[in-house]
Amino acid sequence: MPETSEVIDLGAYGPDFISDPYPYYAKLRAQGPVHRARTPEGQEVWLVVGHEAVRGVLSDSRFGKDWRAVGLVSETEDSPLFTNMLDTDPPHHTRLRKLVAKEFTSRRVEALRPRVQRITDELLDAMLATPDGRADLVDALAFPLPMTVICELIGVPAMDRDAFRAWSHEIIAPTGPEAALSATQAMAEYLIGLIEHKRSAPGDDLLSALIRTSDEDGDRLSRDELVGMAFLLLVAGHETTVSLISNGVHALLEHPAQLAALRADGSLLNNAVEEMLRYDGPVETATWRFTSEPVEIGGTVIPARNPVLVVLASASRDPERFADADDFDITREPRGHVAFGHGIHFCLGAPLARLEARIAIGALLDRCPDLALDCDPKALTWRSGLLIRGAERLPIRWKSEPR
Ligand code: HEM
Repeated sequence: MPETSEVIDLGAYGPDFISDPYPYYAKLRAQGPVHRARTPEGQEVWLVVGHEAVRGVLSDSRFGKDWRAVGLVSETEDSPLFTNMLDTDPPHHTRLRKLVAKEFTSRRVEALRPRVQRITDELLDAMLATPDGRADLVDALAFPLPMTVICELIGVPAMDRDAFRAWSHEIIAPTGPEAALSATQAMAEYLIGLIEHKRSAPGDDLLSALIRTSDEDGDRLSRDELVGMAFLLLVAGHETTVSLISNGVHALLEHPAQLAALRADGSLLNNAVEEMLRYDGPVETATWRFTSEPVEIGGTVIPARNPVLVVLASASRDPERFADADDFDITREPRGHVAFGHGIHFCLGAPLARLEARIAIGALLDRCPDLALDCDPKALTWRSGLLIRGAERLPIRWKSEPR
């Protein structure tokens, strides 16, 4: 029977937990699949760390997503931004997801390939023109690629993207409650204005299409639902893919034999991207869930109306599911990783994220035969907060050192 009375203080683990949380999760997993914990921001939650338990929670309707339904709404969350499919349960969730699902199928996304390739090529042209042969990969490629793709798809003008990036960063990894609230308000105001603009001057983009859309039942999105949809697609569409590209390249540069294997056989690329998702995926913990009634997992009872954080990063490293789980091996069968979640909220954008990462990493390796990390790996700083796992910057160089 796991020890449940102790509350594990994740904040006390210090900066090592931010830069490499995996050994900490391994210790917790060894003690049991569920633990009471305090997040570094001071919230008490139940932490689910085992692969089987994680998949169980993500497919169990007793773990709901709607904060409002359980009366746990703070000032920051009470915004139209959160009237979105990831913050709702069926039947609302089913309705909202159905309205956009057809836009993100593998077939539809495949049509974006030439555009994704062109943006990648242009970004790499600009990066490789740097005379000293050095750059921050996040700034040069990993961030602008998914940001440009999702903004073009939704219809966010290029000139607004810097402000958008700053608000998005603050909402995903808040530096404090006031900054988070003001970013939330600024983002909501911006999206309300954008929707009004597109109502009078529609473009050839998804937001304009959603404004005039009616599904088969003549369904229409309310103003708040439009704001929430645009917010979720824009934020989910770029914050995560940045880290898939940068964490993936980081893993390759830290494992030269794997990098050499991929260079020797380009057909391994798709599998390598799956292994990158498993080994060091962009989403460390799934978004908050709440028990609608007491639920028992592995002998531990989580009471009703309690917040639950499912640790995807831990599940994908569970040795019960993956042999030698801490090894980065691009030839392994990584199926069953939960980097895109599981169940009804399984990532809608998975085909787009895979397409972008495969093109970006493939092109980078092709054009940089001498690619190397340009700093001490221990000097990398990692994004704070439990949601996103990713280096703030990834310094790289691509010209061989003079002998
Ligand atoms: C590597 C990149 C990505 C990763 C690792 C990722 C991961 C995830 C995860 C783990 C979830 C479930 C969260 C939960 O259950 O709490 C999710 C949901 C979602 N993702 Fe992604 N995502 C990525 C890229 C994208 C992109 C490019 C889009 C763009 C459309 C997107 C749109 C969404 C949406 C709309 C949901 C909510 C689905 C629902 O509630 O039914 N994601 N994603």
